[in-house]
Amino acid sequence: MTPVVVVGHGVAGMQTAIGLAESGRPVLLLHKGDWAASNTYLAQGGVAAALDPDDSAADHARDTLTVARGLADPEAVAVLTDEAEAATRALRAAGVFVEARAGRSHPGQEAGHSRPRVLRAPGGATGRAVARALRQAVAAHPAITVRSARVTRVGVVRGRVAGVFVSGDGQRPEWIPAAHVVLATGGFAGLWRTTTNPPTTAGDGLALAYDAGAVLADLEFVQFHPTALAVGETRPALLLSEALRGRGARLVDAEGRPAVADLPAGELTPRDELARAVGRHWITRGPIFLTLAHLDPRTVEEEFADLARAVAAYGRNLATDPLPVRPAAHFTMGGIVTDLEGRTTIPGLWAVGECAVVGVHGANRLASNSLLEGLVFGRRVAQAIAREAEAPPAAPPPAGPLLDAAWPEDLAAALDEHLGVVRTAAGLQDLLRRLRAAEPPDRPGPVTVVRLAAEAALARTESRGGHWRADYPDTDPRWRGHLCHQRDTPLWFCPSPEKGGLFDAVVRTRSRS
Ligand code: SIN
Repeated sequence: MTPVVVVGHGVAGMQTAIGLAESGRPVLLLHKGDWAASNTYLAQGGVAAALDPDDSAADHARDTLTVARGLADPEAVAVLTDEAEAATRALRAAGVFVEARAGRSHPGQEAGHSRPRVLRAPGGATGRAVARALRQAVAAHPAITVRSARVTRVGVVRGRVAGVFVSGDGQRPEWIPAAHVVLATGGFAGLWRTTTNPPTTAGDGLALAYDAGAVLADLEFVQFHPTALAVGETRPALLLSEALRGRGARLVDAEGRPAVADLPAGELTPRDELARAVGRHWITRGPIFLTLAHLDPRTVEEEFADLARAVAAYGRNLATDPLPVRPAAHFTMGGIVTDLEGRTTIPGLWAVGECAVVGVHGANRLASNSLLEGLVFGRRVAQAIAREAEAPPAAPPPAGPLLDAAWPEDLAAALDEHLGVVRTAAGLQDLLRRLRAAEPPDRPGPVTVVRLAAEAALARTESRGGHWRADYPDTDPRWRGHLCHQRDTPLWFCPSPEKGGLFDAVVRTRSRS
């Protein structure tokens, strides 16, 4: 049997690999090198799951849909929240979360959730604990081979995936045949200068899928986290988790006065709105600070031990100091359009996790739904591939143009300026001029991905979720739908279907490449 190639070592890639191996499929897990350079590893918040008897998957789904600002697919969201219990079971049994260790439910509160339902690891290093547990399972499974290599092209022969090219140790790209390739490469929020993501979060999967002819959507929706530590210019910026605000941390001005009391849910206002308020505060009223000084310092140091250590490295005290915060690019809602089992519009090409648009986040993701997405849909992708008949992959196509990796620093700064929390037509046009000048012809890469995002942001003349236009500040019901991209095709608008998800609507209106 030819191994299934899984690209990416975050939660979605590892969960997919484990599921495939458990169903008897050999897997080749490819990753770019450093295990710690993934958003999964860096994640703090946790995993949202309605596990308490007085909570319900339906309530979790309702919160997810509300925050998504009209663009999430109710069917996909129901899958996410209904399957949260099963998809988190192995990690809970492994004692990853506070809940399992103490033998009682101890979920945290985060913005947009109508009740506490976020599973967190002791000390708050949830991502690291999840990544370690999955990595151990990957290492323990003889059917999974792990290899460090950069995928530079997905080979498509007669409309079907035949394998991948990777940059080997020599000059020539190496061909790896595969009937199924799963992209689990994360998003592209690492391209902004002010970001909570590692630089490896550079949109590789989106560029590979676009080159292969798959459909991408929703690229204009970028989630900015409201509370990244604004001390120095570190990249990534240190994230001050929403879990802190869930525990009672407050946002104050330089005089210690409440800074967001005018927002409907104060500090727990959903991320899109709070990020705009924090950004606006800097411009109109000056710096804004997160403070926990009114809370019991021992509780803070115990519950957020990991973050307290990280903050101490900046010479500040998490429990007692006012910490200046600013918005930072954190998550990209857009990506490769898939069905509820991760199929893209190219047979044999699958996508899962942040690089995919399965329909669970819409225009603004609910806090702590991203690790959950990887766990739920990684499992589903694995089950779906395991059901597919084994087909021998075709002979390799010519290597063709390979993924571009260049990402100039001046463009990272230009994203902060023009594709940030607030956008305008003039700024987006300026950004597009610069991106088009920098984009290598026929060689997709990070510049292509943000060029597509900027084109969508310019086209969407309304404000919604993670896309806010100063020149079109209202949400316009006529824009309730998705801007889609496909290579060699002009950008098009796909209205949100009354029934079924975006994938079905795209397949109905476009023939498979
Ligand atoms: C956080 O800890 O605030 C981030 C959690 C998330 O991105 O959902």
